[in-house]
Amino acid sequence: MTQAVIESILSEERLFPPSSEFAQQAHIKSFSDYQKLYDYAKNEPEKFWAELAEKELHWFRQWDQVLDWQPPFAKWFVGGKLNVAYNCLDRHIKSEKRDKTALIWEGEPGDVRTFTYAQLHEQVCRIANVLKQLGVKKGDRVGIYLPMIPEAVIAMLACARIGAPHTLVFGGFSAEALKGRLLDAEAKLVITADGGWRKDAIVPLKEQVDRALENNRVPSVKNVLVVKRTEQAITMKAGRDYWWHELKADAAADCPAEAMDSEDVLFILYTSGTTGQPKGVVHTTGGYNLYTHITTKWVFDLHDDDIYWCSADVGWITGHSYIVYGPLSNGATILMYEGVPRQSNPGCFWDVIEKYGVTIFYTAPTAIRMFMKMGEELPKARNLSSLRLLGTVGEPINPEAWMWYHKVIGGGCCPIVDTWWQTETGGIMLTPLPGATTTKPGATTFPFPGIVADVVDLDGNPVGEGQGGYLIIKHPWPSMIRNVYGNPDRFRRTYWEHIPVKDGNYVYFSGDGARKDADGYFWVMGRVDDVINIAGHRLGTMEIESALVSHVGVAEAAVVGRPSQVKGEEIVAFVTLENNFVASKQLEQELKQHVVAKIGAIARPAQIRFTEVLPKTRSGKIMRRLLRSLAIGEEISGDTSTLEDRGVLEKLRG
Ligand code: PRX
Repeated sequence: MTQAVIESILSEERLFPPSSEFAQQAHIKSFSDYQKLYDYAKNEPEKFWAELAEKELHWFRQWDQVLDWQPPFAKWFVGGKLNVAYNCLDRHIKSEKRDKTALIWEGEPGDVRTFTYAQLHEQVCRIANVLKQLGVKKGDRVGIYLPMIPEAVIAMLACARIGAPHTLVFGGFSAEALKGRLLDAEAKLVITADGGWRKDAIVPLKEQVDRALENNRVPSVKNVLVVKRTEQAITMKAGRDYWWHELKADAAADCPAEAMDSEDVLFILYTSGTTGQPKGVVHTTGGYNLYTHITTKWVFDLHDDDIYWCSADVGWITGHSYIVYGPLSNGATILMYEGVPRQSNPGCFWDVIEKYGVTIFYTAPTAIRMFMKMGEELPKARNLSSLRLLGTVGEPINPEAWMWYHKVIGGGCCPIVDTWWQTETGGIMLTPLPGATTTKPGATTFPFPGIVADVVDLDGNPVGEGQGGYLIIKHPWPSMIRNVYGNPDRFRRTYWEHIPVKDGNYVYFSGDGARKDADGYFWVMGRVDDVINIAGHRLGTMEIESALVSHVGVAEAAVVGRPSQVKGEEIVAFVTLENNFVASKQLEQELKQHVVAKIGAIARPAQIRFTEVLPKTRSGKIMRRLLRSLAIGEEISGDTSTLEDRGVLEKLRG
């Protein structure tokens, strides 16, 4: 972020208080109500969370202890028993919500399916029985590699019902990436589809699963359950592969929800970090259920008649927490859309809002910037007056995009909740509460009640007003990451050792830079580590570098992020070649394709720059700061004295 951008942020004077009409009907009606809640939660965190847990969730057995904090390992609602699928389904079908629409699904080629809570419950029970029949037991991991179809939600809830942790892999990830995740999680079964629709083409998901599993590369996987979606020909391996619809037809419609321990694993979700391969973020049952439930209710100010649409993919944390678990636990009507805006259907999002009368819409800044580029005519030609609240997540939103969202999509009257959080936090951490908080374009405003956040230097001391620093969380919260799957050392190192522990107080290191302005508003600036955020998708530079050097022609690679108008950031890779390879346009294409095959299309570099050498320090560390400057065409400034070979810069400028 440049100095000019920072200055304009810190002098932001546009204020958007909630309208009295909105505030009156909201769950949290004023800023003083927020402050009271915040102070209560800060002073009596265990009481605050216990009262909510009792009021908002169904427990088979009460907990004995609210929090057991043995830093950095937390346990919430110790001894409590519950089931997330029960909280998302069973308790609603025992109420007047039984015949309420739980899920509206708009499929890509125009097909529509809806499920009431009773219908969704039946589907989930049947698939839970199918999983049991295929030998999946409580504690076994299940891989889910599905497109945005109702079966993804059903599969997740079926796993939760029988206590089998799921691990979703976004359908855009390659066979190689899928293999790595299944292997690490030691999945016993994979649920996939013959194919998925993406931008008018079919993604051959089952074929990718076959490739991931070929030559018994993932020996833990015994079976593959296949949903029929695109109906193209696929091969089914006898004894391993089964059709979802066939097994479902014969399965019983009743399956009791397993009484899970509050700290039993609900799911593992892989995400990128600074070093090594993606890590499996572990989330457990009770705390996650409570935190996603209450944030959905208060941040989106959810009411019974809302039609709630979160446009993320279920394969990301946003889909887990705010398409599936949070909203269904609240008994909301959720909308799920398989499509993505594209040349042939640029107005599709607005059509969906108009068609279903969507009231709450949650999307990402990258999508908003793309819509801005497409022009106002598309949304203006639709009736979007049903909208009453807008949300954004995934990257910093630039004030210009915020204003466009506010004016053009929200008609100037919908509050915007800019929500900061991460795969690791499980739920929304910094956010406005729409009936209480006066918003500023681009600010994530304040911490959710129960969250103690600050901006500090590397010694853990709070930085001054307007100063940049590291965004940290001071007290454990219910939906926090419990561990990195199979790697507690990495868990400790990544999140708990950057900031020194003082007086036994551990702080969670988010990896993001932030500032607080004179009014105490938080402004999140982006990652301070080697993680890049491309169109809201998180990738580690090292992951992409490993993919590049696995090509025979590549000797060394260094990857940096470069600002992009629509995507936020894009990838620039500096590559040195093996002796017998020569730089060419063709090789550039080949390398880009190689990265796509290794990771997935989201990791395709925007540019590959061939070079004879990479700038390194005397200890052999690549100097990314220099590469970042080169990638955006900036003059190299600052200290280059540690550069080992000073001639390198000249060569790189080329
Ligand atoms: O850099 C922050 C950015 O997204 C990162 C987390 O990515 P992921 O785990 O994939 O989860 C994305 C969805 C929760 C953060 O470290 N980020 C997320 N939301 C915001 C944001 N940056 C600024 N403002 C936000 N509202």
